[in-house]
Amino acid sequence: MPHRDENGRDGGVRINPSILAADFANMQAELARIAAADFVHVDVMDNHFVPNLTFGPQMVERVQATSPVPLDVHLMIADPDRWAPGYAELGAASVTFHLEAATEPVALARRLRAIGARAGVAIKPATAVEGLFDLLDDFDQILVMTVEPGFGGQSFMPETMPKLRRLSDEARRRGSSVWLQVDGGITESTIAQAADAGADTFVAGSAVFGAEDPGAAITGLRSAAAQHRHAH
Ligand code: DX5
Ligand code: ZN
Repeated sequence: MPHRDENGRDGGVRINPSILAADFANMQAELARIAAADFVHVDVMDNHFVPNLTFGPQMVERVQATSPVPLDVHLMIADPDRWAPGYAELGAASVTFHLEAATEPVALARRLRAIGARAGVAIKPATAVEGLFDLLDDFDQILVMTVEPGFGGQSFMPETMPKLRRLSDEARRRGSSVWLQVDGGITESTIAQAADAGADTFVAGSAVFGAEDPGAAITGLRSAAAQHRHAH
């Protein structure tokens, strides 16, 4: 089967380090260490949708101006219908909002695409995935959280894998090219389970920025995932 990096369904693997685990006071140097990544994952938290606060559009704009790779913005905020388009406008390659927080997810996805970003939707561990089956064409990527959103450095929740597998099976059945992303507790030892269950896009915070050599950590994650994507 041909290798189609474009949509990742045939072996393409993307590794997106999360700057939540980076040194915020040295962001430019930290970004330079992940030039081997596919995207930089940017966690926006509002202390409302999740019990933690990170940064908003001004900081993301500076990351956008400084990063060697495109931005994958993960909005853990209330009222994404109001705030998400601004992140697409500042140039983020993808903008992912939470299904639990959105009022009109399909309309919002269309606005994000119209601005030129990939549209993403995320679900928390307790949210059913079946509600997304009829929306697969409206999104470019779907994020199945593998921890409760809010903090880096938590343990991977294997109980989220059956849900990811059902989503992956449904996407294949419908011939969808949507990217399937996982986020939370992804390491060289947990990434195999997620790849086996159908993920093609992997967020890793502590496993990359906590490593002595982030570039080598990215390579290690990429090859561990690729070995387990053969079935997909
Ligand atoms: C958690 C964030 C994650 C987090 C992942 O709410 O969405 O992106 O940074 O960090 P690790 O890889 O350390 O679990
Ligand atoms: Zn995230």
